[in-house]
Amino acid sequence: MNLESFHRQSIEDREGFWAKQAELIHWNKPFGQVLDYSKPPFARWFLGGETNLCFNAIDRHLASQADKPALIYVSTETGEEDTYSFRQLHEEVMRMAAIMIEQGVGKGDRVLVYMPMVPQAVFAMLACARIGAIHSVVFGGFAAHSLASRIDDATPKLIVSADAGSRAGKVVPYKHLLDEAIELSAHKPSCVLMVDRKLAPMTRIEGRDLDYASQREKHLDAQVPVTWLESNEISYTLYTSGTTGKPKGVQRDVGGYAVALAASMKHIYCGNAGETYFSSSDIGWVVGHSYIVYGPLLAGMATIVYEGTPVRPDAGILWRLVEKYQVTVMFSAPTAIRVLKKQDPAYLTAHDTSSLRALFLAGEPLDEPTAQWIEEGLGRPIIDNYWQTETGWPILTVAHGIEKTPTRLGSPGMPMYGYDVRLLHEQTGEQVGVNEKGVVAIMPPLPPGCMQTVWGDDERFVDTYFSSIPGKLVYSTFDWGVRDADGYYFILGRTDDVINVAGHRLGTREIEESISSHSSVAECAVVGVADQLKGQVAMAFAVLKDPTVIATTSGRLALEGEIMKVVDNQLGAIARPSRVHFVTLLPKTRSGKVLRRAIQALCERRDPGDLTTIEDQAALEQVREALAI
Ligand code: PRX
Repeated sequence: MNLESFHRQSIEDREGFWAKQAELIHWNKPFGQVLDYSKPPFARWFLGGETNLCFNAIDRHLASQADKPALIYVSTETGEEDTYSFRQLHEEVMRMAAIMIEQGVGKGDRVLVYMPMVPQAVFAMLACARIGAIHSVVFGGFAAHSLASRIDDATPKLIVSADAGSRAGKVVPYKHLLDEAIELSAHKPSCVLMVDRKLAPMTRIEGRDLDYASQREKHLDAQVPVTWLESNEISYTLYTSGTTGKPKGVQRDVGGYAVALAASMKHIYCGNAGETYFSSSDIGWVVGHSYIVYGPLLAGMATIVYEGTPVRPDAGILWRLVEKYQVTVMFSAPTAIRVLKKQDPAYLTAHDTSSLRALFLAGEPLDEPTAQWIEEGLGRPIIDNYWQTETGWPILTVAHGIEKTPTRLGSPGMPMYGYDVRLLHEQTGEQVGVNEKGVVAIMPPLPPGCMQTVWGDDERFVDTYFSSIPGKLVYSTFDWGVRDADGYYFILGRTDDVINVAGHRLGTREIEESISSHSSVAECAVVGVADQLKGQVAMAFAVLKDPTVIATTSGRLALEGEIMKVVDNQLGAIARPSRVHFVTLLPKTRSGKVLRRAIQALCERRDPGDLTTIEDQAALEQVREALAI
């Protein structure tokens, strides 16, 4: 079978194709209709079928590999290194599930997970899946304000958290941020379950905070059966940034997600039961959900949960783990590789990485020099894959489980089965030709595993994703792309105000709102600017209410520092702009729209393009001056 005919089959006979893939997972009750697309663009998969993600990830493997490793925990921050077999993982998840049930958590209730990379975070996610609760993991790098808006949107009954994480040897306390977030939020969870790693002091809130270790002791022998769920019930929500300041809860189903992940493990990642998978991502991102937790476990693989950076204790750590645990499939982000590129290349060959079938990279554009450097240095195949929080699994890549399609530097590959990908003209909605730039779009229905809707807001789902191409009900990825004559796609950046900092997706509007909350700021614009290491960084231009505050250099520097601190405290350090430039007016169109693309072009020393609609040319001059162009 070649990839092209496999792909064609998946589009021409969707139901037949996915019914076959659905055999990869266990169904407690078989599904009837494969696809219900009676209410476009909402797609429902495997109707009436009953399954459970936790059962497929753990219980299903107990008969054949109960004592094989399931979760390998490595923290180079604390020195912990533990292996949990499938049997032990099963026990831990049942204990966690019993704690949740005792706190009144049941099917459909939300559980917010705000955790560093610790095994208990994975137990919590799987425990939710087991009992039909909906988990909503919030990245540990987000600060109180971001966390509070997610608490208000998800309205969780329970929050699972920890005293602290650790990054590059520095303790990063979580508890006070969580307390502050709950203070800020209108919704108050009835219970907060705290894992005490003894890294940072914690103040316990009586009647609300529970200690995980003592709760676990109480439930050591817990037996918690799985709750079978109809395929279209909700497994989780995961917040992601878009054009507006308010993050969207990407909502996913149970059956479709399980089938999509199991199929991707077979056809794309080529991982087999009994082997080890290592993704250096974080559970707070979609890669962590799909390819630290669910994907590898569904395939019966051991998954490495790693707390640490790629360069500590030295730049050979990732490869040392590959050798030690005989990793066959690895997943990382281009930024991690660019960080390693600054180190001695001898680290790449200091360990035996021959077990590795391929290193998958995703989350941001993989530039050609980085791809070449790692491919040559490591001597293992590098596979770029392009997808989004919304899709949950790759849209563009190669599927070596189907056909050994050669990879091409700078390209993530071609459309994956299930995705009817089109490149459309931004205004006319017509398909563009070979080598012509267009918006990467997908003709609905979206395949299994993709988002069902925006949590609590069906209208927002349709308005956001299916309304940007005039006259056509198509899903927009908000990425620009081109396709070459051989069918390889290339991604050219976002069409909207989303930026990608070191593989972390952020909305510039969120950062703008945060900066504008500083009492001195009248208005501001934030753009993403190309950066050699992080891919992009945020850069801010602010207009002050009273410009005399920055009459002196020290006044200007102090205010810039203060504004950065506001962003740190509200959103988290990952959103902090690299610079805050002060101007007295922002470049805007006559109708008042900020010309972000023009500002971004100037920051990257490019031509700002057509500026016939600009209200006041002087605004652009100010940007140039601020940038010393
Ligand atoms: O702009 C694209 C970029 O990251 C966005 C999605 O980010 P997120 O929702 O965090 O999901 C990451 C899942 C891997 C996309 O819209 N992006 C992701 N992968 C690539 C990429 N850009 C270029 N090449 C990629 N391989």
